[in-house]
Amino acid sequence: MIASGIREAREPLIGQGPYEILDVTDKERLERVVHEHEIDTIFHLAAILSAKGELKPQLAWHVNIRGLRNVLEVAREQDLTRIFHPSSIAVFGPETPKDLTPQETILRPKTVYGITKVAGELLGDYYFNNYGVDVRGVRFPGVISNVTPPGGGTTDYAVEIFYEAIKRGRYTCFVEERTVLPMIYMPDCLKATLDIMDADLSRLKHHTDFNVAGVSFSAGELALEIRKHIPDFEVSYVPDYRQEIADTWPRSVDDSAAREEWGWEPQYGLESMTSDMLDCLRSRNESGGL
Ligand code: SER
Repeated sequence: MIASGIREAREPLIGQGPYEILDVTDKERLERVVHEHEIDTIFHLAAILSAKGELKPQLAWHVNIRGLRNVLEVAREQDLTRIFHPSSIAVFGPETPKDLTPQETILRPKTVYGITKVAGELLGDYYFNNYGVDVRGVRFPGVISNVTPPGGGTTDYAVEIFYEAIKRGRYTCFVEERTVLPMIYMPDCLKATLDIMDADLSRLKHHTDFNVAGVSFSAGELALEIRKHIPDFEVSYVPDYRQEIADTWPRSVDDSAAREEWGWEPQYGLESMTSDMLDCLRSRNESGGL
């Protein structure tokens, strides 16, 4: 097993195992790394997210589409066992039903990131149907991690808010207080990733596009929950261009297909996620690592 990224490994990866510097848009190098390490499964996570993608749409298209195409081609050519390629709630758009968004629904995204994710779902299915490449993926909500800082997404506020609550006791949120989006805590995100990859292929009717729900809340509800732990925590709301993106996405999704086909069930709700996030970040802050 190897990890890879476009720059030198950073903590906490250093010393954890083999690591290769690899740009997924460089197909030759991808081929070589896969061949040399006898890789049979790729978790293809490299992407430009929604907010950065609107600032750099050409780059988002290049990394997300060229990168995926390279991974799928290497999988086909070297006969890999399985590919994980996440999709996103960004595949939905303003015409999509906003509450308990169905598995099968209108996919008319307004961001280039969302467009690349719709294309990715379809391309993954194409490689499965035409070449037998076992591509699997879920439509992730905003992912909240206590390890990886947020990077270029519309849902970044739901992660930044925790760091700022601990470090400064206040946060300026870039979406309005009323904004509700689907989120998922990292342990649940990892569980979904591993569970779908372990699922019995014969049970899967979908492959690349499973809705998965974690927990939905408004920015204001998240602030209130954090205030239960940090009573003086202050939040102001100054929406920017990311509000417009957030307004095109669902408030919650119906994940019954994932539950039926591979037993998906999230473990974390708003309360348990918030207290775990704050515990983890506090102890890192005390040891000077935040
Ligand atoms: N978290 C992602 C974003 O905000 C959604 O997939 O772009």
